Amino acid sequence: MAALSLRFPSDEVFARARELFQRAGFNEDSVEQQAIVDDALLPHYEDGLVPEGTDAAGLLIGLFLRAGKASRDRVLAALGEQGIADLTALGLLQSDDAGMVRAPMRIRPMYGMYIVADHWDPTRLTRNSAEDVVMAPDFSSTLEFLSFIPHTPCERFLEACGGAGSAALVAAQRFANRAYCFDLTERSTLCSSFSARLSAVADFESRRGNTYEPASGLQFDRVVAHPPCVPALRHNWIFYSGGPDGAHITGLHVEKLPDVLAPGGRFYCRAVGNDRREQPFEDRVRGWLGADHTAFDILLLVFRKESPLEFIMPSVSVGHIAVEDVPAWQQEVARLGIVHFLPFLLVIQRHDQPRQPFTIRRTLDPSAVASGAIEWLLDWETLRAKGAAEDLILTRNLLAAPASQRIRREIQQGEWRVTGHSLHVDAPFVSDTEVDPLAAALLPACDGQINGRQLVDGLIAQGHIRPDTDPRAFAAVLADLVSAGCLYVEDCAPPLGRRQ
Ligand SMILES: C[S@@+](CC[C@H](N)C(=O)[O-])C[C@H]1O[C@@H](n2cnc3c(N)ncnc32)[C@H](O)[C@@H]1O
Repeated sequence: MAALSLRFPSDEVFARARELFQRAGFNEDSVEQQAIVDDALLPHYEDGLVPEGTDAAGLLIGLFLRAGKASRDRVLAALGEQGIADLTALGLLQSDDAGMVRAPMRIRPMYGMYIVADHWDPTRLTRNSAEDVVMAPDFSSTLEFLSFIPHTPCERFLEACGGAGSAALVAAQRFANRAYCFDLTERSTLCSSFSARLSAVADFESRRGNTYEPASGLQFDRVVAHPPCVPALRHNWIFYSGGPDGAHITGLHVEKLPDVLAPGGRFYCRAVGNDRREQPFEDRVRGWLGADHTAFDILLLVFRKESPLEFIMPSVSVGHIAVEDVPAWQQEVARLGIVHFLPFLLVIQRHDQPRQPFTIRRTLDPSAVASGAIEWLLDWETLRAKGAAEDLILTRNLLAAPASQRIRREIQQGEWRVTGHSLHVDAPFVSDTEVDPLAAALLPACDGQINGRQLVDGLIAQGHIRPDTDPRAFAAVLADLVSAGCLYVEDCAPPLGRRQ
């Protein structure tokens, strides 16, 4: 790739450039109005020129987001001598002999910051880009990844596979005491350092290295990663290829979590996994954690399941994967026993005290889940694993969720027989859970005015269950209904509705 143009002059130059952008109205709102249609970025200009007649914000959007050129006179009129001098000193503008000015890097105003990356044409993407191209921080998969990261206070935050570093920059700016960003490439590392200076983000540090090598003994309370995860036989771009099964770089980052994730810490990873004939993906994740795996909980939230060909075809059709590579890749996929590919959010939690681990898989529609629903599920399952959920169920009021019951009947021995009961809910996660018929029958009694102890006592009094029923065992059955989203516990109910 062309050498990186960015330069790191004094803080005064960075501050003047930032103020210039702010004065010119180059911000998230103007970008969303002028450069985005239906959530997609507008492509680069066909003729490579920023159209005449734009205001200063439009000119900056044309230069920095749509890779257009403009005459030096126009840029001078909009930004002034000092503005051109500062942006040139930062390596953000270059002039040619024909009197035209261009921006060698892309700048995306986001979250009140200016995030620098390589130019990114959504229609042509990176076919001709170099291996170490820095991915746009507003690419759809990155926005999805960012939307899952909790903004709750955090002491030490790490974005692994950081690229442009938007997650770590947001963390440093909004909720972490200190945020780190690690990436394999020098280009990405310099881009995120530059964005921090340009956006005046303090307590941020960018380090270069393979996986967590740059940690040098540090541990983190929250680690997030959006690793390269496209399954491909042939490596193309560093941000893109995750090996033949797409999960190679993810695996490297999970394997080393025992070194870098602090007790009580959580790891959030948006990537792609695969179920194999004899091995669901979550079992493989547990295997990656190695000898200490029982000190970790695993929550796998699967967005959808796709057959190998179904999964790879969109990348082939846009030319990111060569069509002639597909047969050999299919053979490799068959050899590995891959049945499905699964885009996912994986959350791994390290225990803060010894206890039994849990492993859970749920289906999740990324656009429909409420903010905080994932943390609610993790917190609830943690209470269960610590043996504390039963006490809550016995002492707090219980309310049935708006669930629907499905009763399965099958023909057996010449007649219809009931062979299963399941409960369906749409929130906090769309789920169908097989339940004990007694548990399903109890739900209507949960009107928000009755606790688990009163339920057990009532059932005993009515002769429905034996007088020596262990209330905690009864509560454990109800805890399953809570996990499935079918029953709410007072002051512990899941957040519902859509994410902000
Ligand atoms: C899919 S991009 C994600 C970038 C950014 N986090 C985002 O969400 O936009 C993956 C990033 O991982 C980096 N990367 C690839 N292999 C790596 C490794 N072994 N160790 C550290 N970083 C790696 C690439 O350079 C790239 O910046």
